[in-house]
Amino acid sequence: MNNKIIDAAQGHWLLAKMGKKVLRPGGKALTLKLIKALSITPADSVIEFAPGIGFTAQKVLANNPQSYLGVELNEAAAKDLRKIIKGNFRDIIVGNAAAVPLEDRVADKIYGEAMLTMQADHRKAAIIKEAYRLLRKGGLYGIHELGLTPDGISDKLKAEIQHELALSIKVNARPLTQSEWICLLEKEGFRVKEIHTNPMILLETRRILDDEGLFRSLKIGYNILRQPRARRRINQMRSVFNKYKNHMNAIVIVAEKV
Ligand SMILES: C[S@@+](CC[C@H](N)C(=O)[O-])C[C@H]1O[C@@H](n2cnc3c(N)ncnc32)[C@H](O)[C@@H]1O
Repeated sequence: MNNKIIDAAQGHWLLAKMGKKVLRPGGKALTLKLIKALSITPADSVIEFAPGIGFTAQKVLANNPQSYLGVELNEAAAKDLRKIIKGNFRDIIVGNAAAVPLEDRVADKIYGEAMLTMQADHRKAAIIKEAYRLLRKGGLYGIHELGLTPDGISDKLKAEIQHELALSIKVNARPLTQSEWICLLEKEGFRVKEIHTNPMILLETRRILDDEGLFRSLKIGYNILRQPRARRRINQMRSVFNKYKNHMNAIVIVAEKV
C-alpha cells in the first residue's frame, strides 16, 4: 500500500490490509452471540448486509442455511467474497442494503455488522426498513454496531466523539445510544428480543488475541511494524477508542418482525 492510500483508507480496510479479520466493534465474542440469538437452521433463508471479508458469513454457513445472500456495496470485497462463498443457493451481490433487488418477505433471518453506524440516520432507517420488507413475519433481524453510553450522553460529547471518529477512521461514523438503536428498530415495526453489549476495545491486545488468535495477531503486529505510516494511523485510531472507552461500546440487538 502506498502512503497516499494508507492515509486515505477507511479504518476497517486499513486493518483488513494489515491482516485483521474481525472488523466489528464487539469482536468475535459479540458476533457469536449474534449468531446464537439468530438461531439459524437449515430451513432458513438468510441475507447478510455488508459481509465485508466474510468472517461472519463463514460461521453462519456452518449452520447450513437453506440459502445465503450477501449484499455488499464494495465491488472488490464482493469479488473476494465470491471466492470463498460458493455453492447452491449461496450468492453475493454488489448492492446497497437499502435497496435489495428481491421480492418482499423472502428471508427468515437478516443481519448486518458494523454497517449501520457508518450511515446517516435517515439511511440507517432506510436499511432497517428494507430488512423489515425482506423478512417474513416472525423473521429475525440482527445488528452489531457501535454504541454510545450512557443513554443520556450529552449532545456535545456525542458530536465530539463523532468528529474524532470521523477524523481517525475516515468514515462518518454515527454511533447511537442503546435506546436510540432500539427506537430506530421499533419505529420500523420490529420488536426487540435480545440485547448484548461488549466494551469497544477492538484494538486492545487482549481483544486482538481473542479475535484473531496468537499466530494471526503476531502476523498483524509484524505487518503494522513494517509500515510506519499505517502504524501511525492505527495508533491514532486506538487513542481515540481509548479516549472515549467509557462512552463507547459495542451492541448487538436481535429484533423480530411482528
Ligand atoms: C466496517 S465494514 C464491516 C464488514 C463486516 N460486516 C464485518 O463486520 O466485518 C463495513 C462494510 O459495510 C459495507 N457497506 C457499507 N454500506 C453499505 C450498504 N449500504 N449496503 C451494503 N454494504 C454496505 C462496506 O462496503 C464494508 O464492507
